[in-house]
Parts: sequence; C-alpha cells; structure tokens
Amino acid sequence: MKKIVSIALTVALMAAVVTGCGSDKGAAAGGASGIDSAALADGVLTVGTNAEFPPFEYLGDNGEPDGFDMALIKAIGEELGVEVVVENMEFDSLVSAIGSKIDVAIAGMTVTDERKQSVDFSESYYNAVQHVLVPIDSTIATYDDLKGKTIGCQLGTTGDFIIEEIEGATSQQYNKAVDAVNDLANGRLDAVIIDSNPAGVFASKYPDKIKDLDGADFDFEIEEYAIALPKGDTALQEAVNVAIKKLKDNGTFDKLVDQYMQ
Ligand code: ARG
Repeated sequence: MKKIVSIALTVALMAAVVTGCGSDKGAAAGGASGIDSAALADGVLTVGTNAEFPPFEYLGDNGEPDGFDMALIKAIGEELGVEVVVENMEFDSLVSAIGSKIDVAIAGMTVTDERKQSVDFSESYYNAVQHVLVPIDSTIATYDDLKGKTIGCQLGTTGDFIIEEIEGATSQQYNKAVDAVNDLANGRLDAVIIDSNPAGVFASKYPDKIKDLDGADFDFEIEEYAIALPKGDTALQEAVNVAIKKLKDNGTFDKLVDQYMQ
C-alpha cells in the first residue's frame, strides 16, 4: 500500500515536471538561448553565406569564411547565447536554403520585395549602391551608355536584376563576382555591375585596367543589407534586432566597420 502511494506520488511529480516544461515553451524551443525560436532549439545558429564578396565575406588565409558579416553574426550569436556555424554556399541558393539547410543568411544581402515573399529580414545594418566597373579607357559614364552592352554580374544579385532592365543589354552571369571582374580586366566584358564595397576591393586589384564608377551617377537606388531570417519566426527576428541595436549602441559595430571596410 505504502509502495502504491509512493508510485502514485512519483507519477504525479513526473506529470508536474512535464507540464512545467510544457508551459515554459520558450526555453524548450530556443535551447540554451531561452528564445522561443525553432531555429535555435539545438543551440546552434547555422548561418549561410557566400564568401565571395569582400569585405563582407571572403575566405580567409585558413580557408574559413571571414569578413565584416562573419564578425557581425558571431557577435550576434554571442548576444543570443548560441554557437554560430557558417555554411558557405552559392549566393543564389541562400534564400531557398533558409529553414532547411541553414537557419539564417548573412551575405551583404539586399532587402527586396521579391525575397520578402520567402523570408523575413532583420533591421538593415548597412547601406550600399551598385557600382559600375568598366575598362579604364571606357567611355561609359551614364545609364544610357549601358544600353546594348555585355555586362557581367554575380548570378541572382541585385546587379543582375538591374542589368535585366537595361535595354538591349546582355547579362553575363557568374557564380563568383571575381570571375566577372577578371573577364572585364581581360577585355571580355563592357562592364560589371556590383555592390559599392566589393567594387572597390575588386577594382583595386587592377588599378591600371579598371575604373570604378559610382552608381549614383547611373541613378541606381540605395540598397539596404539585412540578415535573412525564416519567415514568421518573430522571436528570432526580435532577438536579432535587439542584438544588432546593442552592438551598435556599445560601439562593437563601429569597431567592425573600422576593422573591415576600406
Ligand atoms: N547585395 C547584392 C544582393 O543582395 C549582392 C550580394 C552578394 N553577396 C555575396 N555574398 N555574394 O543581391
């Protein structure tokens, strides 16, 4: 009898523990982070990038992705209390990999309405504009001059989308922007359209062959970079935004800008 009572008590206690866990769903879903996000349940933030976009991401000397975005997402991971694991992949497959292969993507990615249909974005953390790289002796100087030209870009980027709109222009798409820049230097393209900061980095490799034209002169719009997040994961979005704000407020963000931007 005594035994039966003690078993009943144990069962009741176990039920209480299970219910307790159930009611504290936040901690359960977010693992150690305590954030109610399925993406963080394993305590790991798996981050997709395309490390072909200096200074935001590139392969460092040790073969691992390095750069401004990598440092930023690691700092965000620390704020969230999760481990950050980086997966390097093609830029064009990042958005569709969110929710399966990766939790989030940071890749100098511009917020666009089309991407917003598949993913949510954090607050934007950086502004950019497309630049036009041309051979040093090129006469291209305005938007109209780009009409009918063969223009290189990285596949699936906003530069690619701009070229699609230029009358008569052919978009020569590359998996890596650096290959487009090399072809430009070798006389195989009339221009390359790519984001401002990487444009500066790539153009500086060929100071006697390539010039770097500001997209503002071509009426290209300002673009905002943000972290792409799983759609509807508002707890993760909020936590990431709080972390970005904190890193901006405490000076960490500016330190990374000084460290990585030319
Ligand atoms: N900002 C452009 C876009 O979102 C280009 C980004 C390319 N990033 C990269 N890591 N390759 O389309």
